[in-house]
Amino acid sequence: MKDIRAKILQNKKVCGDYYKMALDAPYIAKNAKPGQFVQVRCSDGTEPLLRRPFSVHKVKGKTVEILYEIIGQGTEILSERNTGETLDVLGPLGNGFTLSNMPAVIIAGGIGVAPLVFLAEELAKKKIKAIVLIGAKTKNMILCEKDFKNTGAEVKIATDDGSKGCKGFVSNLFEKAVGKIVYACGPAQMLKCVADMCKKKKMHCEISLEEKMACGIGACLGCAVKVKGGGYKLACKDGPVFNIAELI
Ligand SMILES: Cc1cc2nc3c(=O)[nH]c(=O)nc-3n(C[C@H](O)[C@H](O)[C@H](O)COP(=O)(O)OP(=O)(O)OC[C@H]3O[C@@H](n4cnc5c(N)ncnc54)[C@H](O)[C@@H]3O)c2cc1C
Ligand code: FES
Repeated sequence: MKDIRAKILQNKKVCGDYYKMALDAPYIAKNAKPGQFVQVRCSDGTEPLLRRPFSVHKVKGKTVEILYEIIGQGTEILSERNTGETLDVLGPLGNGFTLSNMPAVIIAGGIGVAPLVFLAEELAKKKIKAIVLIGAKTKNMILCEKDFKNTGAEVKIATDDGSKGCKGFVSNLFEKAVGKIVYACGPAQMLKCVADMCKKKKMHCEISLEEKMACGIGACLGCAVKVKGGGYKLACKDGPVFNIAELI
């Protein structure tokens, strides 16, 4: 991990409140693995004081991309930053997904697509077959469909309002999906549903938890997650990706 001053190469709206930022970050690009994240200082001032965590969305040569949704002050400020400005970026952080040789089912809800595009690209490089299930509120909020298709993966869509693909939750698509290992990121309710289904199907499943974080490096204990056996693990250091077998 390194704290670098990264130049913003691009920062543009994708749709709705979703933005994509490309950063010149050779060290992070070289060392990042799918599921890892970076801590970004959104402004050069003291507001907000804490850095904000974002998954590594894509790596292209020396460039690292993040895909983010405007949620509050930090992401609002981030969306207003201009090309050519620089930001403090710490990373890569945490433990990412295990890359196995098994056919994969990738399940993404909302902004949960962010780490999974990098994962799908790495699986494709290893010629591992993947089916991708994307969930969104409505047709206009489906993220990264093209990126996933470009990896050669089969892509299926679910929207809450039925405006594209199957109507309902993305977890419903999972009933019929064939694969040996599941990777998921999205809203807590979706992850719980996916985890329950994987337990029933006896499938290996890894999920990325987007816990609230402060330091991002295991120092403040602010992101503790209860695990089986009575202990705690830190989402920032031991995760953010966990095998569901570990989690309560
Ligand atoms: C490992 C990790 C990876 C992440 N990757 C991405 C990503 O790739 N793209 C992306 O858009 N977001 C991602 N997030 C979430 C992102 O970090 C938060 O949305 C961001 O920190 C919000 O900052 P803010 O200052 O805009 O909002 P704040 O003002 O900090 O918060 C606004 C509201 O959102 C709530 N909130 C803030 N963070 C979270 C959270 N993590 N979970 C639930 N509620 C929260 C706050 O309690 C508050 O109510 C990730 C989080 C983690 C832990
Ligand atoms: S965010 Fe500080 S220990 Fe995880």
